[in-house]
Amino acid sequence: MNTEERKLEHIEIVINENVQSKESNLLDFVRFIHNPLPENNLDSIDLSKDFCDYIIDAPLVITGITGGHPEAEKINDSISRVVSKFNIAMGVGSQRAAIENPKLIHSFRIVRENAPQAFLIANIGVAQLNKGYGINEIEKAIDMIKANAIAIHVNPGQEAYQDEGDTNFSNLISKIEEINDKISVPIIIKEVGNGLNMELVKTLRSIGIKCFDVAGLGGTNWIKTESIRSRRKNGYPLKDPGKLADFWGNPTALSIVEARSGAMDSYIIGSGGIRDGLDAAKAIALGSDVAGMAFPILKILKLEGEKGLENYIKKTIYQLKTAIFLSGGTNVYSLWKSQVTIWGRLKDELLIRGIEPNEYLNKRLQTLLWRKKNHGI
Ligand code: FNR
Repeated sequence: MNTEERKLEHIEIVINENVQSKESNLLDFVRFIHNPLPENNLDSIDLSKDFCDYIIDAPLVITGITGGHPEAEKINDSISRVVSKFNIAMGVGSQRAAIENPKLIHSFRIVRENAPQAFLIANIGVAQLNKGYGINEIEKAIDMIKANAIAIHVNPGQEAYQDEGDTNFSNLISKIEEINDKISVPIIIKEVGNGLNMELVKTLRSIGIKCFDVAGLGGTNWIKTESIRSRRKNGYPLKDPGKLADFWGNPTALSIVEARSGAMDSYIIGSGGIRDGLDAAKAIALGSDVAGMAFPILKILKLEGEKGLENYIKKTIYQLKTAIFLSGGTNVYSLWKSQVTIWGRLKDELLIRGIEPNEYLNKRLQTLLWRKKNHGI
């Protein structure tokens, strides 16, 4: 099966089968303290946010989904128009197919044509770095959409359960470092649904990586998706994941706190099961810069078309705004100062990982102060 067919199958399975994780992303264990006299004005709340040295109008990223096929081009066409309208950020799906077959380039390039001013993120799989990809291919992907950053997705779980998966993940950190030293835009190290962790983020920060997309457990599940693909083809999954399908990984809420603890001065996309503005507000309150979503974007586009997607983004932005309003804030940065409780399993697991929740919440302010000092926000 070629890469283009696989991409279409992914879209079809994600939309028609239930491949959302049974495991929670643990955002249920975060609650904002409601402020009934917030002393602010809902209409004046400012949603603009710096992200990788760029300003976007609301702290939302539509993370990498697709490209590389006429059907995928239609999806990128619609998403990028909506992204341009709201001046939020957008990633494309893996560009490997178009690097290998230039006929497919337009299915990606369309996003830049539709959104000339937007923050756009190129995308390539880390495993390709062990299969001959280097700075040339990475720069091709960036140039294809005149990207502002490139996401290198780290997806060992998905590859392990994909029939044709690339499972050699050795010696990749040094290759990432080599590319990062030569590249023209920031690298975003991005999971796809099993979550980053504190130690890895710390290591990556030490080699110069400044941007991360946690893509934690609790949303779209790629181990599950690949095993369904395998079952359809072979009658049974060649590599049956058992409970790993639903329960392997670092839940989003934990992953965000771990990533921030590993690199206080980094830019972080909080993603994995973000489904509305309250989820997005919680992800940011926990320490991410912006919130990212993939599945709901695709699903709503399929069900309700471009207009439906536009309404969904509008609704999500309003929910985010009300969360800031009702917690007494005035802008997105207020979320890093907001009062929240972290309880139950999230608290327990953080303590086991050596992070005391209230101490951590105070530490988030360091990030804010650092940003103020270096970026004047
Ligand atoms: C994805 N995702 C993804 N990520 C990536 O880095 N490269 C890719 O090519 C793709 N392809 C892709 C296809 C489809 C159909 C979906 C829904 C998603 C992963 C995505 O960016 C995100 O990290 C995860 O899906 C988790 O977020 P959600 O879906 O829970 O919001």
